[in-house]
Amino acid sequence: MSNDDIKELLIRILNLVKTDLGEGVETTIGSQLPALANLLVTKPMHVPDGSGSVFKTEVVIYRSPELTIKINYWHGDDPRATPHTHPWPFESFILHGGYTEITTLLSEDGTVSKEHRTFAAGDRNVVPLWTADGRRVGHTVGQVLPGTVTLMVCGPANPGLEWGHFEEAESGVFQYVKTSPDPSFRDQLKAANKYMR
Ligand SMILES: [Fe+2]
Repeated sequence: MSNDDIKELLIRILNLVKTDLGEGVETTIGSQLPALANLLVTKPMHVPDGSGSVFKTEVVIYRSPELTIKINYWHGDDPRATPHTHPWPFESFILHGGYTEITTLLSEDGTVSKEHRTFAAGDRNVVPLWTADGRRVGHTVGQVLPGTVTLMVCGPANPGLEWGHFEEAESGVFQYVKTSPDPSFRDQLKAANKYMR
């Protein structure tokens, strides 16, 4: 990648940030410095896996109620074994490495359908909250390749910033359950990120 390519990429990212802020699109790095300063202010955060280690490191490039852009450095599989839902729809651009996702679609009658998909560098994974025909979308992420890096672009969050997962209620029937926050998560986060207060 040439210096001009890098400059062009940076301008495009910064313009995305400025567009969300409702400001005009600029074309020089100099006028983008305030946005660049904002972009660099958030420190990387290691995300605990619940077993004393971390499974990814997140760097937030931009955050607003409508749009969050972050880079995820993956260290291993997502530890959540049951399909989980996110508070926001998102798109994941695989920059390096890859992973396998099991997408689980939950119908109102409690039936689920599963789809295995493998993503590699250059791919784009679109994860909506719901399918067009009204099924809730959950997923698990595994078989993460060493050195996997993804760019995650998240849309507006639901009002309660609610995370959920699918539980098997009785044989073959699943239900959506709101995920209760892990009371120890904040301590795990602090242990994995010594600089945090
Ligand atoms: Fe997820």
